[in-house]
Amino acid sequence: MTKQTLTITDNRTGQTYEIPVQHDTIRAMDLRQIKVKEDDFGLMTYDPGYKNTASTTSTITYISGSKGILEYRGYPIEQVAGSASFLEVAYLILFGELPTREQLAEWENSIRFHTLIHENMKELFEAFRYDAHPMGMLISSVAALSTYYPEAKDVLDAENRLLQIKRLIAKMPTLAAFAYRFSMGFPVNYPDNELSYAGNFLNMMFKMVEPKYRPDPALERALDILFILHADHEQNAGTTAMRVIGSTLADPYSAVAGAAAALYGPRHGGANEAVLEMLAEIGDVKNVPSYIERVKKGEFRLMGFGHRVYKNYDPRARIIKQAADDVFAVTGANPLLDIALELERIALEDDYFVSRKLYPNVDFYSGIIYQAMGLPSSMFPVMFAIPRTVGWLAQWQELLLDPEQAIARPRQVYLGECKRQYVPIDERG
Ligand code: CMC
Repeated sequence: MTKQTLTITDNRTGQTYEIPVQHDTIRAMDLRQIKVKEDDFGLMTYDPGYKNTASTTSTITYISGSKGILEYRGYPIEQVAGSASFLEVAYLILFGELPTREQLAEWENSIRFHTLIHENMKELFEAFRYDAHPMGMLISSVAALSTYYPEAKDVLDAENRLLQIKRLIAKMPTLAAFAYRFSMGFPVNYPDNELSYAGNFLNMMFKMVEPKYRPDPALERALDILFILHADHEQNAGTTAMRVIGSTLADPYSAVAGAAAALYGPRHGGANEAVLEMLAEIGDVKNVPSYIERVKKGEFRLMGFGHRVYKNYDPRARIIKQAADDVFAVTGANPLLDIALELERIALEDDYFVSRKLYPNVDFYSGIIYQAMGLPSSMFPVMFAIPRTVGWLAQWQELLLDPEQAIARPRQVYLGECKRQYVPIDERG
């Protein structure tokens, strides 16, 4: 049998070290023994952006970037998105197995039970400026929830953790819809617990004066699928933020606020908002080739293209493209779709994109669907944060139960000035 070790020769000293290899990985701490002098700190790795560093083991989500595979707990994304409901997938992601019919009914009930938020929270929303971005409101309001549930700090208690997990999954759509309604100047809608998770969200978003909101079944299912596709994606920036904050044993509301803040950026969950701005700027299919030329010159990036992990077509983008047809059958076509399709067609034939393995990612088509559903682009990152809360919470729980995990505290390579004398202000040149 081949030896599962790595032999390293330090050419500075001529010394050789044998380091165990497990799961194609060496432990960074095994490098610490490699020293020139006895009192050296020991060898470290330098990895800005954690491009080649595994921060954890995990059993939640599997991605093969080269093959374009995404699985939740071993189930291919195509199968769960094709057959399951979002809350069923949430159960799978959180607890590791698909629920039985009874388990699912109990789980759905327990989420419904927690959909309301404290009435005082409305004053928090009212305090925002009239044009506040709903993602800023969502981040702030979920952080504020920690003050309503101070017992959530007891993160090492399993029962307490489960209660906060249910509350967060139940209340995120309510906070999101409240943020939207306040930003539009509309009165808020309370949850309708007779509806599904996605159906109730549409109700809280779009109900006006009708006594009972009945979501269009095609839109409700399309939204459910979009939620499933966004539920988890292993150690991305938002999830890493969740784990970093969680590693300090902060309460999950504060940790979710931090994760959502990471998601807000245009290189992460803010990308679908940027995609729509880009498509609107291109304006017409005939302008696509000149836009691509500018991307290739490095003037800006093609938003919704490229991924740190996928070096193949993002499987979520493929499913979203199908869901788009169902939505457009109800809402009528979005004219931006033609521009998106042309961008994709040209980019996938162009050597710049082919050689860098840049393919459409999940955000390339999701914004077009959300816009067709009547959502302003400022709501797009919010639409990402609602389902991703499930993944954040599953990863947070996994972290807390992992005896190998410790407070996240990376090292640095200091390249600044060496010790020097303080200069009084009058003596500085
Ligand atoms: N358009 C044009 N060129 C690109 C793009 C793009 N969208 N993405 C990467 N490149 C080029 C980049 O300029 C570089 O070229 P070169 O080697 O000549 O310098 C090469 O491809 C590698 O790029 P990188 O920045 O090293 O790749 P990364 O893995 O660090 O970045 C990314 C991944 C998603 C941040 C990046 O592809 C990007 O900025 N994409 C646009 C924003 C976007 O769509 N984000 C959503 C990500 S998916 C949703 C999510 O999970 O949040």
